[in-house]
Amino acid sequence: MRRLLHVSASPRGAASFSRTVGEELAGAVAAATPGWTVTRRDLSHTPLPHPGPDFARANALAPDMRGPAERAALARSEALIAEIEAADVLVISTPMHNFTVPSALKAWIDHVVRPGRTFRSTPAGKQGLLADRPAFAIVSCGGRLGEQPVGQADFLTPYLRYVLATIGLSCLDVLCLEEMNRGPEKVAAARAAARKWQAGCIARAAAALGPGA
Ligand SMILES: Cc1cc2nc3c(=O)[nH]c(=O)nc-3n(C[C@H](O)[C@H](O)[C@H](O)COP(=O)(O)O)c2cc1C
Repeated sequence: MRRLLHVSASPRGAASFSRTVGEELAGAVAAATPGWTVTRRDLSHTPLPHPGPDFARANALAPDMRGPAERAALARSEALIAEIEAADVLVISTPMHNFTVPSALKAWIDHVVRPGRTFRSTPAGKQGLLADRPAFAIVSCGGRLGEQPVGQADFLTPYLRYVLATIGLSCLDVLCLEEMNRGPEKVAAARAAARKWQAGCIARAAAALGPGA
């Protein structure tokens, strides 16, 4: 049994471009080979709390120094990390909010990027502790990316690459759906590009996972 985890962050429910393309990718990966299960983590429908004082305190303690209260404070984080660990393929779909990730996705990142658990600090820098696996991100933007004044800065894609690589997920393939607020022709062009991209993703996932994928 193979598992795909789809983490989505748009507040726009089923109308979301990024979630729709993420679901299409999840469906296509599952259809390409029988035996896939898709787990959905909708961060807008079920928002995560921002890390509070208990989480911060527990996170800073070595595991053997944590008591029941600290372990309880990290229980949600452990469950979210376990979802990633159980996944053969990770799909993240997200809108761009003010040039970067929406706060809903940032909260998920804060729960899953943890010292001593998903990365460790070494003299050579941070080292990811999760096994690498194919990861795909669909980013939807209202406008165009690129040089100003026509385009806008993209702090989302480099950030997402960096933070996922920090925990060991370095194979991130990103699709940006641009100009989604600029009329049906732009939307149709982005959706067509997404279908082409999806075919490459399926091939990449199959190659990475080997026979039976
Ligand atoms: C709070 C907020 C901030 C936004 N900031 C940006 C932005 O910085 N750049 C941009 O191109 N679009 C921005 N948008 C527009 C969305 O990124 C765009 O509508 C996107 O297509 C939504 O994706 P979705 O359909 O998956 O929700 C913003 C939208 C909201 C609600």
